[in-house]
Amino acid sequence: MTIHIGAAPGDIAETVLMPGDPLRAKWAAERFLENPRCVNEVRGMLGFTGTWQGHPVTIHGSGMGMPSLSIYANELIRDYGAKTLIRIGSCGAMQPQVALRDLVLAMSATAVSTPSSTIFRELTYAPTADFSLLEAAAATARARGLAPHVGGIYSSDTFYDERPDLDEQMVRHGILAVEMEAAELYTLAARYQCRALAILTVSDHLPSGERLSSADREQSFSDMVEIALETAFSTQ
Ligand code: HPA
Repeated sequence: MTIHIGAAPGDIAETVLMPGDPLRAKWAAERFLENPRCVNEVRGMLGFTGTWQGHPVTIHGSGMGMPSLSIYANELIRDYGAKTLIRIGSCGAMQPQVALRDLVLAMSATAVSTPSSTIFRELTYAPTADFSLLEAAAATARARGLAPHVGGIYSSDTFYDERPDLDEQMVRHGILAVEMEAAELYTLAARYQCRALAILTVSDHLPSGERLSSADREQSFSDMVEIALETAFSTQ
C-alpha cells in the first residue's frame, strides 16, 4: 500500500494500461480482462488487475494532467514494479490531416513543463516512446485496417488555454495533437528503465472545432484497449 494506491504488494501486474478516467479503467477491465478485481479505490482512482489471454494486466486510472499521472506512475513503477505502461487516452488534433477518430501514436511529447522539469535545469529533455512498443502498436493498428499517425505530440499543462501562441508554434512544427499526460509518463519510464507508450484517439479537432460523440468515444476507447493489450504482449 502506498500513499495513493491501496493495492497489496503483488496486486499490480508488470503491464499497466492507464486511461485518464477511472471509470474507463473499470469498464475496460470488466470488458477485456479475465477475472478482474479492484485493487485500488483510494480517492476514487480505480485500478483493476486480471489477465488477458493468460497474461497478468492492471488497468489503472491516471487522472487528468501530468501532476496526477506522475503520482500514480511513480508509485506503480517504484513501489509495485510496473515495467510496461501504456497510456490510452484522447487528444485534440492539431494538423488538418489528423481527423476525428484517427489514432495517434506519440513518438515524442513536447511540454512547457512537467513535474520532472526542475531536475533538468537548463536542459530541454526530449521525452520519447519506447521504440519496441511504438513499432508494435503501429503494426497492430495497421493489421486492424487503421492508419495510425506516428509523430510528436504536445503534452499541455492546461485544457483551458490562455496562450494560443503555444499551440501555434506546435502546429507550425508539425506536432500532431495535444493531450496532457504523455511527457511525464515517458520521462518517468526513462528514469526507471521501463517501457512506455501513449496511444491516443482524436476526440476533438482544433482546426475545425469538431468533437466526437460519446458513443464514438466509447468505440475508439475499446479499439485502443485491444491495440494496447496486443502491443504489450507481442513485444515481450
Ligand atoms: N487539449 C488538451 N487535452 C486534450 C484535448 C485538448 O484540446 N483534447 C483531448 N485532450
